[in-house]
Amino acid sequence: MPNTKASIKDTRNRPMRDLRISVTDRCNFRCPYCMPAEIYGERYHFMPREQMLSFEEINRLARIFVKLGVNKLRLTGGEPLIRNDLHKLVGLLSTIVDVDDLTLTTNGYLLAEQAKSLKDAGLRRITVSLDSLDDEVFAKMNGRGYGTKRVLEGIAAAERVSLSPIKLNTVVQKGVNDHTVVELARHFKGTGHILRFIEYMDVGNLNGWKLDQVVPSKEIVRMISEQMPLEPAEANYVGEVAARYRYLDGTGEIGVISSVTQPFCGDCTRARLSTDGKLFTCLFGSQGTDLKTPMRKGATDHELEVLIANVWLGRTDRYSELRAHLTAKPGSEKIEMFQIGG
Ligand code: GTP
Ligand code: 5AD
Ligand code: SF4
Ligand code: SF4
Repeated sequence: MPNTKASIKDTRNRPMRDLRISVTDRCNFRCPYCMPAEIYGERYHFMPREQMLSFEEINRLARIFVKLGVNKLRLTGGEPLIRNDLHKLVGLLSTIVDVDDLTLTTNGYLLAEQAKSLKDAGLRRITVSLDSLDDEVFAKMNGRGYGTKRVLEGIAAAERVSLSPIKLNTVVQKGVNDHTVVELARHFKGTGHILRFIEYMDVGNLNGWKLDQVVPSKEIVRMISEQMPLEPAEANYVGEVAARYRYLDGTGEIGVISSVTQPFCGDCTRARLSTDGKLFTCLFGSQGTDLKTPMRKGATDHELEVLIANVWLGRTDRYSELRAHLTAKPGSEKIEMFQIGG
């Protein structure tokens, strides 16, 4: 039974249901749309260890979020599987009562060796990013020249230990991988995995995003449907980010995430915790609320709960809805995607 307990609500009457926890700002990929290699080179200084929340600190905060209404936890990064002993954190979080969903978004490169320990620790399912099956296109999109082999092995390992349903995230960029979209859909049709296409977003400040690089989801659905007919399907839950489409021949479904052409801020129930313990109420936020400092200075659970609740109660964010009307760049720098995990 899904947990339907009450949650606090923000100024737009949106409850706080999901907590996305970034466990590291490091990544073994350099996807140009997220962490361009020319900026995040080998000598880039990522966060020093003492600034990162420990597993115990994450566990403590997660329990307070759950008390306030969160019923879904997702671990992200950077690349979460780079964080040492991640399964130990999963083990701690999996014992929280009232959590209906405990999952993780990964680039899959280290998944084959970790799938079993994550499952054994209590991870329920997994989402793997995979932008193309074409090795050359994939190599370009991960910025490291890696082929797809290890990621596909990771997906197979996740399947063996039933970290399912397995979802696959594909960011689509015009002229980069849009010509490989139909091949991806064909490959995963009938496997039980759910492939989702994400419109390229203007996250962060450094990816040089331009609207004309976005392939509207409608176009993706049209391309796939022309060869393998699709029909719209109902959302699984209120506020689902992906719009679902199922194959008419009953062999599964795909999803499209249209945050540029059809923003979904109205139903956005997501809070985000950065690696250094800041609470963000929007993917496009510029300033988080520091939870780590008060926690390390000895704040009680109740004091932290009040702090978090007040942030959510005052929340007004709806960046994607406003994007269309923005004539200038937002006043302050946005948080980078690898710091907040998408
Ligand atoms: P499910 O729980 O499986 O439905 O996953 P999800 O779609 O909530 O999570 P996932 O991490 O797979 O999200 C897919 C992608 O959608 C993210 O990586 C982001 O790129 C984008 N996304 C997720 N949440 C938001 C959001 O609140 N706003 C915007 N603009 N994009 C989001
Ligand atoms: N636009 C859309 N999706 C992005 N992701 C990373 N950067 C962007 C962007 N600029 C996706 C990743 C991964 C998820 C965490 O977010 O590919 O699937
Ligand atoms: Fe790493 Fe994910 Fe960013 Fe790619 S999108 S650089 S895999 S954090
Ligand atoms: Fe939520 Fe911000 Fe994304 Fe809108 S832009 S859906 S408020 S995270």
